[in-house]
Parts: sequence; C-alpha cells; structure tokens
Amino acid sequence: MIKKISSMAEYHQQYQESVQDPEGFWAKQAETFMWQKKWDKVLDWNFKEPNVKWFVNGKLNITENIFERNLPTRRDQVALIWEPNDPKEKEIKLTYGQLFEKVCVVANALKKQGVGKGDRVAIYLPMVPELPIAMLACARIGAVHSIVFAGFSATSLMDRINDSQCKIILTANGLFRGNKNVALKSIVDEALVNCPSIEHAIVLRRTGDPINMVEGRDIWWEDFLKGVSNENTAEVMDSEDTLFILYTSGSTGKPKGVLHTIGGFMVYAEYSFMNVFQYNEGDVYFCTADIGWITGHSYLAYGPLLAGATSIMFEGVPSYPDAGRFWDIVDKYKVTHFYTAPTAIRALIAMGDDWVTSKDLSSLKVLGSVGEPINEEAWKWYNDLVGKGRCPIVDTWWQTETGGILISPLAGITPLKPSYATLPLPGVQPVLVDPEGNVIEGNNVQGNLCMKFPWPGIIRSTYGDHDRCRVNYFATYENLYFTGDGAKRDEDGFYRILGRVDDVINVSGHRIGTAEVEDAINQHPKVVESAVVGYPHPIKGAGIYAYVTTEHLTDDQLATIEKEIVDLVSKLIGPIAKPDKIQLTPGLPKTRSGKIMRRILRKIGEGDASSLGDTSTLLDPSVVEDIIKGAKVDVKR
Ligand code: WTA
Repeated sequence: MIKKISSMAEYHQQYQESVQDPEGFWAKQAETFMWQKKWDKVLDWNFKEPNVKWFVNGKLNITENIFERNLPTRRDQVALIWEPNDPKEKEIKLTYGQLFEKVCVVANALKKQGVGKGDRVAIYLPMVPELPIAMLACARIGAVHSIVFAGFSATSLMDRINDSQCKIILTANGLFRGNKNVALKSIVDEALVNCPSIEHAIVLRRTGDPINMVEGRDIWWEDFLKGVSNENTAEVMDSEDTLFILYTSGSTGKPKGVLHTIGGFMVYAEYSFMNVFQYNEGDVYFCTADIGWITGHSYLAYGPLLAGATSIMFEGVPSYPDAGRFWDIVDKYKVTHFYTAPTAIRALIAMGDDWVTSKDLSSLKVLGSVGEPINEEAWKWYNDLVGKGRCPIVDTWWQTETGGILISPLAGITPLKPSYATLPLPGVQPVLVDPEGNVIEGNNVQGNLCMKFPWPGIIRSTYGDHDRCRVNYFATYENLYFTGDGAKRDEDGFYRILGRVDDVINVSGHRIGTAEVEDAINQHPKVVESAVVGYPHPIKGAGIYAYVTTEHLTDDQLATIEKEIVDLVSKLIGPIAKPDKIQLTPGLPKTRSGKIMRRILRKIGEGDASSLGDTSTLLDPSVVEDIIKGAKVDVKR
C-alpha cells in the first residue's frame, strides 16, 4: 500500500524528489501495487501529439489491486456501505469478500453476453450497489465502462452511446431521488431507438414501476445473473489499456469522451486519496458525489477501494426527507471523512443552522470540498458548524481530465487558507501563463493554470478523436496541458483557483458547455439565435443566463416560449442544464465580423454595465442598450 506523507517536511522532500526524478518517484509508488508483469519503462511522453504512457508494458488488472491485494487482510472488512434514498429502507453493507463475489458474478455474466476486452459498456444506473459492481466487473474483464449520470436525458445518453459504440447497457427500471421517482427505462428506450451498436439492455428492478421490455434486447438483471459462477480470473491488461471513458463538456461542440488508462489512473487514485484525505485504518469515508461524475469514479469507488477503505454511497439528495440528511448519515455510520461540493454546502446554509447543530458530528475528522471554488462564507460555515473548528478542510482542485486531485492541502498537514486549494501534490508541476503563453514566474501573480509535466492520472485521449484532445488541452500553449481555469499564486506560493476562463460554466459543480446549451435552445423552431453565459448564483455558484432572439411571436407564443425553451434544454441535455434566466432580445451584440461579444453579455448578466469596455467595434451598438433595459437582473451603470 502507498505510504502516506506525514509532515510538511516530508511533503517538501517528496515534492522535490518527484520533480527531480519523476520516474524514480512514481516507480516507488507503483511498486506497492500488484502487477502481473512489471513495466519496462516508467514514463514515455510528449505534450505535442500528445502521447503519454505510464508504466510502459506493465501488465495488471485494477480489480486485483482492489480485491486480491486487499482480501488477505480485509475479507471481512466493510468495503461499501449503501445508504438508500428513503431512510426507512435498510442499508446494505458489503465486505471486501462479498463485493468481490458480486463483481465476479457480473463479470461472468457480461462475458456470457459476449462482452470482452476492449468492448465499451454503457452504465446508466441510479446510485445503487449494482453501479460500482458493474463498473468493477467491466474492469475485471477488460471492458471499458462509460458511465452516464442518470440525470442526463435520452438524447445525451444516445450521443454518448453512439460516440463510443457501446455494446451493452446496464440500467434500471426507475430510480428514486428525494421525493421523485424517475422512469429511467423509458428514457433508455427512447435513446436506444437510435443506438444500433447496443445488443442488450440489462435492467435492474429498483422501483415498482411496470416497464416495457423489448423482446430479444432487454434482459432482467436477475436473468442476466442466472447460472453464472462466482469465480472469475481477472483479465490480464496492459497498463495503457483503456479503463474508462467519461464524457464531459468543453467550450465547443458535443461532450467529449475523456479517456483514462489503467496503470497510471490506479496509482494516482490511491496515492492522491491516501495523501489528501490521510485515511487511517478503521476510518469511514463518505463522498457525496454520484458515481456518474469523475469524483465518484476516483474518490467514491476506485481510490478508496484500492486503499482498502470503507466507502459510503448515498442514493438520495441532501434535502430528503429533510435538510439534516447528510448529518444523519454521518451520525449513523460514524463518518470520519466527509467530501462534498460547495453548492451542497451553500444550499444547506440556506436551510438554517439547526439542521446541523442538532446532530452528533463528533466522529468527523476531515472535510473535503470539490467541484468549484469554495467561497469564504461557505468555507467558514463548513469549518465552524460542521467541523467545529477541529477538522481540516481539504479544498481539492482537479478535473475529469486530470483523473485525480492535483492541487489540495494534505489533511492536517498543509496549513489552510480559506478558499485556497493551496499546494500541488508531489508529481504535479503547475505553471501560470499569460494569454500569450509566457510563463509568469514568482509569487503574488495570476494567470491561466497549466501543467508542464505529466502525472500518472492525466487524460490520454478523447475517445475516437485524438486530435480533439490535442486541440483542447495541448495546443493553446506549447508543451503545456491547459486546464481552462484561471488561478492566483499568493506570496506563499499557494494557489487559489479563480474559475473557468473558457466557455464552460460550472453550475452546482457540474460542467456545462455554453455551446451545448445554445445548440439546444436553437432547436426551438421560433428561435433565431442565442448566447449563453454564466452569472453569479448564490447557491449554484454559477447560473445559466440565456439571451435569445426569436422570429416574430404572437402573444400566445410569447406567453409560453420561455417554458418551452427550458423544457427543450431539459429534454436535449438534462435538467441540470436548464437556463435560470431567459431574456428575449431583439438582437445580440456582434462584431462586424459577426462574432457575438460574450464579454458584454457576461457583464450585463453580472448586473454591471459600468465597465462594458469598448463597444465601438459592434455592428449595432444600440442592441447593448436594449439588452440592458430588458435585463433579468438589476444592472448598475
Ligand atoms: C472546477 C471535478 C475551484 C474547475 C473534479 C475545474 C474547482 C472544473 C475545484 C472541473 C476546486 C473543481 N476549486 N474550482 N476545488 N474543483 N473545480 O471535470 O473549474 O467536473 O476546471 O471535475 O471544476 O470539473 P470536473
């Protein structure tokens, strides 16, 4: 197992070593894992193509590192605790031994359906134990999982399945989320009409809803498992074989399939988990993320399970049945490590302090934050009310593309500063650059955040389109990985993340591409054009503000168009991408060459028209006046 850093001096020493001798440093970490065959070379890389390979020619299976490596000491230790949506339903606890058996059964069942090494498997499941079980079963047989968050629409699901040509989909008849009951299978049915690569849909019975089963295509979960053995030998995989694809939004086009490979992801997931959270034997770790997002992949499932931890997965939402639910879970299982997103914290602040002060949170030792910048007020509330001033807060900065946490305090070791992600983990070499790509040296500076050297968890490709990976992340600045975030480095060399500098909006910690939302809005038959920007939102961090121009509308059409647009976005992408504000406007501010000046729209959305900058290059400067007049916020001049 990875040996944890235990002091600031040791952090500095590991950091130095990781920069001076990255290969030696990561070899030492990787040696603590179980390999079928050791690597020939630790690292091969260039950021030009890009081409990054870690533990070259190493052979392994990540699930052997979760199970076979841990079982001798942890067979009867709880690996996974499942807390249902409804607190009256019974929880499920699976030991490493039990989880292993379930993974082997599903692995064998997948094989029986003809799924093998390299095949893509779509997983569209609620937060039930079958989700991580399916995920690990894919890894066990060398199939590539593509997990789609169960809040995405049929169109989004269809796009993802088709992009990576998934062979099979694992899903459920329905799901519970708070007091909602979503008919998941009917969404799948709608998607599958246009997914010719799918041979079978395996359907778990989670809710009581009757559903339509398509003869020959759909198989109930229990039938899928029938007659298969619970013993399975792991497929021997190459270190650089694909482990999973996870779709995420960027500034342009459709979501891209971020591709991660086995060896590097594995080493980085456990290394970062152990060091950031400082997990100790017997601790109970609760990450509130859905496994459909990268946080769930790396820090609910893979990281903790590799490390032999006890990890809680929660099916529901923080507000159901009431705003004390998270804290009830903390008390029920004596949670020591709690990892959530600032948006959840802000939503709970708004519900009042009693929900937290009335609970017993004495088991807590470490608090984590992820997904978006944590504002000082939320940080303070988290620290004072939840952590009672005695639990370090790890503000963990990372991305789907980074595979794991890159900049974060190590719990109880790194000095904290509210709203600072603080220092890079060993092996991580951040640089700040100006818009021309010149590296900004020294402290007390601000710029675009890049990485100049690979770490084992770095993105390898975007599925089916390697050049898109190059263009998106490695072409903006030569020989650098560009994160899309701006950051500040203070006098102590600590990093504070300032947020996205591209056309991605971080809504409640979820990445939404403005282009994607615009494409959806533009599909409305009466819409001519639209421009979407983010604006400050007290709970979500950023809200979605859409400026829309339409054809002539009758009064009746005018009365319903906003709702139609919201419904359309919800249908095409999912409810998380619904615009919070829609402003119908006669025109959009455009340059003479026809480019929409989003800078102006962003300013107006923020309610600040005092510094719109130079508008003289606009084709028609008067549209700005119209937009300010019709704005859905109070605009200061
Ligand atoms: C943002 C989530 C500030 C950032 C793990 C990044 C953060 C994007 C933080 C990635 C943080 C994530 N402080 N901003 N601690 N963590 N972000 O791919 O803008 O869903 O680029 O990965 O979230 O979002 P993603």
